[in-house]
Amino acid sequence: MKLSIIGLGKLGSPMAAVMAHKGNQVVGVDLNPAFVEAIQSGLPPVNEPGLPEMIQANRDRLTATLSYEEAILASDATFIIVPTPSGEDGRFSMRFVLSAAEKIGAALRKKSGWHLVVLSSTVMPGCTGGELLPALEEHSGKKAGVDFGLCYNPEFIALGSVIRDMLRPDMILIGESDARSGKILEDLYTAVCESNPRIQRMNFVNAELTKLSVNTFVTTKISYANMLAQVCDTLPGADVDVVTTAIGCDSRIGQKYLKGALGYGGPCFPRDNVAFSALARAHGVPALLAEATDALNRRQIPRLADAILARLPEGGTVGILGLSYKPDTEVIDESQGVGLARHLLGLGVRVMVYDPAAMQNTRAALNGSVEFASSAAECAGKSDVVAITTAWNEFKQLGAGAFKPGATVLDCWRILSRATLSAEMTVLYLGEGVPELPPIAVAR
Ligand SMILES: NC(=O)c1ccc[n+]([C@@H]2O[C@H](COP(=O)([O-])OP(=O)(O)OC[C@H]3O[C@@H](n4cnc5c(N)ncnc54)[C@H](O)[C@@H]3O)[C@@H](O)[C@H]2O)c1
Repeated sequence: MKLSIIGLGKLGSPMAAVMAHKGNQVVGVDLNPAFVEAIQSGLPPVNEPGLPEMIQANRDRLTATLSYEEAILASDATFIIVPTPSGEDGRFSMRFVLSAAEKIGAALRKKSGWHLVVLSSTVMPGCTGGELLPALEEHSGKKAGVDFGLCYNPEFIALGSVIRDMLRPDMILIGESDARSGKILEDLYTAVCESNPRIQRMNFVNAELTKLSVNTFVTTKISYANMLAQVCDTLPGADVDVVTTAIGCDSRIGQKYLKGALGYGGPCFPRDNVAFSALARAHGVPALLAEATDALNRRQIPRLADAILARLPEGGTVGILGLSYKPDTEVIDESQGVGLARHLLGLGVRVMVYDPAAMQNTRAALNGSVEFASSAAECAGKSDVVAITTAWNEFKQLGAGAFKPGATVLDCWRILSRATLSAEMTVLYLGEGVPELPPIAVAR
């Protein structure tokens, strides 16, 4: 197909590359001239594993422009992947989507043939049909379902594996204005995906609700595992991994995202969960489960901080290894490592941090007295208590020699093997019941 993609950010750029990789002719549009220039030069606008190679290999099918009109006239279908930031009430803002709709509508007014518009940004239930559709009709002077088609088609991807997730999804979710529009999108994904995904077609509101519900369900699972881990922390002999591995063997439950460790972060999980609560409340429905999931998540940093402070010598330094919200990304939105640093700094604790990819973002987010190490080994070697907050592969290589003699390591993801570390060190796995060490000096 000939596709245009509005918004070349963390989701839009990989989408453009994947679509071009599978033989579609793609033109991207962004307000940011640097992103357009990057694509035009065969470079990735954002960091994502595999993206540079995929853009470079498909330059003949992938271009970008600042002009909506140029992109829409040159394509049969337009994906909107612009931000939908959360408001104070937890609901997603439609302002960027509606601004894009105005320009798409104006371009559609000049187009003679039928066109498909696909919204991939995350929106509140009711917004595709209630806000985007009328905006497109108003600005184009055309009728949805007749002169143009409209679909809501969110992506289920994790940063760091966006390309893999787009090529091999479990499900394709399509909310459609009419059967023709949904079928075109179904056929496109059938050709693009390598995993023969289940394709779920429905009306807009069910698709919007499904998108929020998937993430809300997964966050519930994570908070459940963390609740279990917290119980395990206090039970001598308990090991959350042993328990969750066994629980996950039940096919009603499954292993994925059932790991007691730290809270969830990133640009989607926390805000989708909060948006679900806001939606339920707005309709007079108690959102007890989603609210409990969020409350449990917010308790994870204080839980970890307490474990650290109980083991920190007076005036000691806490090392935080891992600032990105997950491995293989530089994104620090709602990251546990950054949240922990902020929490400890607020208590007057000396903090040193390191991350293989997220140092620059963290410098911008954490002003003040945090110390930035130049390597994992420097951070580990200069800290009295080290918390491993992101399971980067690089940290798995740390041996006994990297740590300060007598240091305590809180291995939140249980990635270090005690066997390879020195007997002088205390390695604590979060979620494992260990005989409680007497608190040394609590620097509160
Ligand atoms: N990043 C994720 O992990 C992820 C996962 C699932 C869903 N989403 C959703 O996808 C949407 C986009 O997220 P993202 O992470 O790619 O955002 P992003 O901020 O990384 O990228 C958005 C891009 O859109 C551009 N833009 C903004 N307004 C525009 C306009 N009117 N016209 C053209 N370009 C415009 C920005 O310049 C930016 O490059 C959001 O609704 C988000 O919730 C994101």
